[in-house]
Amino acid sequence: MRKRTALVAFAATLTLLAQPAQALPQEAPLAQASLAAATPGIGHDYEPLRDAAARSGKTFGFAYAPHIANSDAKYKAIAQREFSMVTAENNMKWDATEPRRGQFTFNGADEIMSFAAANNQKVYGHALVWHAQMPAWAKSITNRDDMRKAMNDHIKGVAGRYKGKIEAWDVVNEAFEWDGSRRPSELQKVMGNSWIEEAFRTARAADPNAKLCYNDYSTDGINSKSTAVYNMVKDFKARGVPIDCVGFQTHLIVGQLPASNKQNLQRFADLGVDVRITELDIRIQLPASQQALQTHATEYGQVVKNCWEISRCTGVTIWGISDKYSWIPQVSPGWNAALPWNDNYSTKPALASVANAMGAKKNGSSTGLVCGISAKVGANWSTGYTTDIVIANKGTTPIDGWTLQTTLPDGQKLATGWSGQFTQNGQRLSVSNTSFNKTIKPGESVSFNFNTTKNGNSSTALRNFTVNGQQCT
Ligand code: G3I
Repeated sequence: MRKRTALVAFAATLTLLAQPAQALPQEAPLAQASLAAATPGIGHDYEPLRDAAARSGKTFGFAYAPHIANSDAKYKAIAQREFSMVTAENNMKWDATEPRRGQFTFNGADEIMSFAAANNQKVYGHALVWHAQMPAWAKSITNRDDMRKAMNDHIKGVAGRYKGKIEAWDVVNEAFEWDGSRRPSELQKVMGNSWIEEAFRTARAADPNAKLCYNDYSTDGINSKSTAVYNMVKDFKARGVPIDCVGFQTHLIVGQLPASNKQNLQRFADLGVDVRITELDIRIQLPASQQALQTHATEYGQVVKNCWEISRCTGVTIWGISDKYSWIPQVSPGWNAALPWNDNYSTKPALASVANAMGAKKNGSSTGLVCGISAKVGANWSTGYTTDIVIANKGTTPIDGWTLQTTLPDGQKLATGWSGQFTQNGQRLSVSNTSFNKTIKPGESVSFNFNTTKNGNSSTALRNFTVNGQQCT
């Protein structure tokens, strides 16, 4: 996790240039929920994930970059169909909204507001005060009162403009270090410890209806950093400093979802604040192995499940849609595959895993993965037996890469397998494609087989399979 800290520190040194002025788009307001429901998913055949989230009283969000929606129809279609909340990936940050002191530029931010309104989506404001993407003019202030004025004027300018229209604001972003100390940013160095609570009080006055959040990364499990944030929130609640929510960015490295994630979210919720997964992505070293993709899917599902099981968790936001536009490779070369949609908008197993964790229903259309399984006992001898499995694609789009999971009878162990990559974890057996049987075209099938030991049990025809996280019969 130290590596992660270093990466983010590097990312934070990158500066966003002010967005060029552009005309406000006039999105025609649509009855989006019903339109979305009628539109097939891209890369999957679940109902819109926003609808599944809504049944649990949660929102499913994404980080939105308007310039991508304007040039990539698939990105835009997914943005409209799947999500009930929008976070500005960059356009509401300090350098984008106030590139010169007192001169506010709201082109990109306004574009996001109109997109969200047209698509019946809530807006999560990100971020009023952050040491990164803070304009040079503000960073160069050395006088305490002047810095306070600049910060407060900025909050009033931005939160004031969108008063009553923002669900929640990240008032302060990333103000703590790994060890729980305050990050020595210009904000901290010039204003001292009180700047965070001052920012929250100013934001409350500027937009009394918006929920006010503190947001950070590497706070996903119980550790020194999350405990420092926890103590701050506890103190704010005790002293009446207005804080309503805490955002957990959850930028993860595959295989490193902290075991204490749910417990950590719950301890914050128990302080009387909402919690949210605000920037979820899970990076994988490229090329992504089938095993990594499986862990990736499991962790995506687990994060959603953890949130879903906490009543004060308002939902999950993923940091983008397609890997194609992810921030990851820019700061972490050789890593990506971090989002549920691939570069070409096919989906990873993570998509089904998220959908299943939300209890999403199948659309009934056959635009995505629809699998059929035939499993039977083949050769059979005193100490072991062979299982022959066929996966059929009964859908209308190719299955491009697959992982089948099933459970072996107690005590039985995988011995050898053919035409697949096999791993056994406890009694769970995962089988992923090889390079030669990766794609299953519609109407076609692949077969593989493996031997298991009997361990005193008899041979058993296996049942209950998932392929890429979806139940197959
Ligand atoms: O807009 C300019 C463009 O004009 C210029 O040609 C180009 C050259 O590099 O840069 C463009 O700006 C980039 C901007 O993203 C928009 O694409 C910046 O270089 C780049 O640094 C910036 O990165 C953003 C990063 O925050 C900056 O810290 C990422 O898109 C954004 O995903 C990322 O988001 C942060 C959250 O706000 C807070 N939590 C961590 C998360 C990931 O770092």
